[in-house]
Amino acid sequence: NVEPIRKICCIGAGYVGGPTMAMIAKQCPDIEVKVVDINADRIAQWNSDELPVYEPGLDEVVSESRGRNLHFSTDVDQAIADAQMIFISVNTPTKHFGVGAGRAANLEFIEKCARKIAEVAQGHKIVVEKSTLPVRTAEAVKAILAGASSGATFDVLSNPEFLAEGTAVEDLVAPDRVLIGGESKAAVDALVDVYAHWVPREKLLTTNLWSSELSKLTANAFLAQRVSSINSISALCEATEADVDEVAMAIGMDSRIGPKFLKSSVGFGGSCFQKDILNLVYLCEYFGLPEVAEYWEQVVKMNDYQKTRFVRRIVRTLFNTVSDKKIGIWGFAFKKDTNDTRESAAIYICRDLLHERAKISIYDPRVDAEQIRRDLADVMRNGDSELSAASEKLLNENVEIVTDIHEASKDAHGIAVLTEWDEFKDADFERIHNEMKKPAFIFDGRNILKNLPLADIGFIYQGIGFSR
Ligand code: NAD
Ligand code: UGA
Repeated sequence: NVEPIRKICCIGAGYVGGPTMAMIAKQCPDIEVKVVDINADRIAQWNSDELPVYEPGLDEVVSESRGRNLHFSTDVDQAIADAQMIFISVNTPTKHFGVGAGRAANLEFIEKCARKIAEVAQGHKIVVEKSTLPVRTAEAVKAILAGASSGATFDVLSNPEFLAEGTAVEDLVAPDRVLIGGESKAAVDALVDVYAHWVPREKLLTTNLWSSELSKLTANAFLAQRVSSINSISALCEATEADVDEVAMAIGMDSRIGPKFLKSSVGFGGSCFQKDILNLVYLCEYFGLPEVAEYWEQVVKMNDYQKTRFVRRIVRTLFNTVSDKKIGIWGFAFKKDTNDTRESAAIYICRDLLHERAKISIYDPRVDAEQIRRDLADVMRNGDSELSAASEKLLNENVEIVTDIHEASKDAHGIAVLTEWDEFKDADFERIHNEMKKPAFIFDGRNILKNLPLADIGFIYQGIGFSR
């Protein structure tokens, strides 16, 4: 039997650890929640008025509980020692070295957490995998915990997180489901009881450990597959005068297909889709299933194709050269309502435009200029430790990061809309047109300006998946 949970800790104060724990603390005033991280700057930000994660509604959720039953700290050992239940919510990026480089998940941070728990824990603890992990990781976690010198005992649960950035708070308040996989009924029940503070029981789904681990990778693979599927059709639409938004509407009204996640775009980004599919591909290969691996890998290849295709279309439309031309970049985040740029399509599109020697002027309402510079330097370095002189010159001379949409667009030959920020729809397009070079082109990678009378103003407007 497991005592009711009164003390939780979470290792990893990132995009998942911070918001999920803030929600638990808000909904469960009877539970003390401590979020710990080795990154002292991040913890300081969580303790400040400027949270490290921008999410609509998150400030309110954090400020309601912080200092009451929600605490952020760098004291990992103490938090583990005090907690009955320990969530591991550290990053699991794609491995860039050794076996499985470029595909497998790098599990070093997970393993370090398990070893730290084994070293510090006393008595009985429930360890919860919150990070997205390859199926059968719990086996390794259990093996490491079994070596605890103090004789502490453990249950290991899998409780993957399905929130999407930009809607994290609403997703956490009313999740489609909460998935809990485990072997010990008592441990599973203890975590069910935590979520039951606010999530209806019928949405609390319990499975075996391995199904839970694998369901997370599978969910992301299916979601990304829908985006790649509709993006593949967008290319065909451009060649045939069909309109991808009409096609999406028509197929989405079939209740077996459903309307969501069929928005054609410049390509999916975000920290997880690509990494999780590549991880799935690696697992399939590892388990001797090359056909399955190849099937899923195509989702990522199609996404790369979509990004490349977008740049090629810009170059072709701008009379086959963008060298020395100014392109205004509207949006750099991987989707609206987040300051996250990880794997954003914008990074790759800006890189390709720079390789074409375009001058790019970037505006994003939420992303720091420093972050954009770091992302572009990383992508131009292309895995090398140093930037080449040519790349450095391009970054210094051809990139400008500006603080409003007009600066980005003034004297531009074209505008590329890369994130679907709502404010872009309300721009003063008359003024923008006046201030641009003529003919003035707009390349809408999100189809958010499609219904505005841009042609009447004088723009040449091109979106994704239709031709006019
Ligand atoms: P993140 O990089 O924002 O945060 C991870 C944090 O863990 C970092 O602050 C890092 O300093 C900390 N950390 C790493 N090793 C540590 C250690 N040994 N001790 C203490 N802290 C340590 O990552 P994230 O976006 O929050 O993602 C975390 C996990 O959740 C990943 O597996 C990801 O796939 C998964 N996930 C992410 C999302 C999302 O929207 N970002 C959604 C669902 C699932
Ligand atoms: C995604 C999943 O939606 C979450 O359920 C999951 O928890 C999370 O990954 C994760 O594991 O990290 P997220 O990446 O935050 O969430 O955001 P999404 O809304 O899924 O968007 C991902 C990318 O796909 C964005 O670049 C978005 O613009 C793009 N997208 C999405 C499209 O191009 N078209 C669509 O119809 C939907």
